[in-house]
Amino acid sequence: MTTPKAMSSTQAIGVFDSGVGGLSVLREISAQLPNEPLIYLADTACTPYGEKSKEIVQALSLIACHWLVKQNVKALVIACNTATASAIDAIRTCYPDHLVIGVEPGLKPALTRSKTGVIGVLATQNTLNSIKFKRLVKTLRYQSPKTRFIFQAGEGLALLVEQGKAHSKACESLLSTYLLPMMEQGADTLVLGCTHYPFLVDAIHHIAGSRLQLIDTSEAVAQHLKHKLTERGLLNTTALPSTPYFVSSSSPTHLAEMVKKLLYLSVQAHAMQSLSDPPL
Ligand code: DGL
Repeated sequence: MTTPKAMSSTQAIGVFDSGVGGLSVLREISAQLPNEPLIYLADTACTPYGEKSKEIVQALSLIACHWLVKQNVKALVIACNTATASAIDAIRTCYPDHLVIGVEPGLKPALTRSKTGVIGVLATQNTLNSIKFKRLVKTLRYQSPKTRFIFQAGEGLALLVEQGKAHSKACESLLSTYLLPMMEQGADTLVLGCTHYPFLVDAIHHIAGSRLQLIDTSEAVAQHLKHKLTERGLLNTTALPSTPYFVSSSSPTHLAEMVKKLLYLSVQAHAMQSLSDPPL
């Protein structure tokens, strides 16, 4: 038996997504855990993950986590529903000493919020097809047999967010084709089952007005992370608040532009390939 590697509270937290979607989770983590040094890794070279095979998403996620672990992080946040669905078990097996936090579409909170009992779920095809997601749906159907879920793959949406087109006409018309049929069937609640989709909130409101209440789990994920860090004695209470360290597997310039656009932060981003030593 190997001795578990001891982590220290001063180590950074690694946050990873296929691209810029995980910034919606990072935003909440920064707000709730301002003393934690954060490294954000966007696998923009391989985005989007949503239509890739489970095996490929798993391999890409392991490469990303391996890189973050090499930067000496104490925890890994898989800020991507698709990567969580395909790879979290493999990541936990590879890094048993690390705290590994994933994300999943907020079907549970949606159940308590919906009045009509009809809930739209927008997620990548990969997430919807995953065993993990199917298991979650099965459990909730058992608990709440009258609830009706309408599942919709958001094909094309993550890519539009990546391209900085979240507020474009093209994005709004694609979204309409996904949302209008749900609303016609009585949905009053929409689960944002991909971390890119919180950046589509303006477009969704434009289409649906106040007819759809939106379920975004990023706040709950940050709370859960805080709770788990506290439980393990790994909460950093000493470091001064600092800007996260942004890393891209393709273009750091594009990532910096997107951070400015989506989080209103002016930052410098770095290339994954150029960093082999811990940045923090
Ligand atoms: N942001 C990701 C998710 O939460 C993946 C989007 C994609 O790469 O297709 O599922």
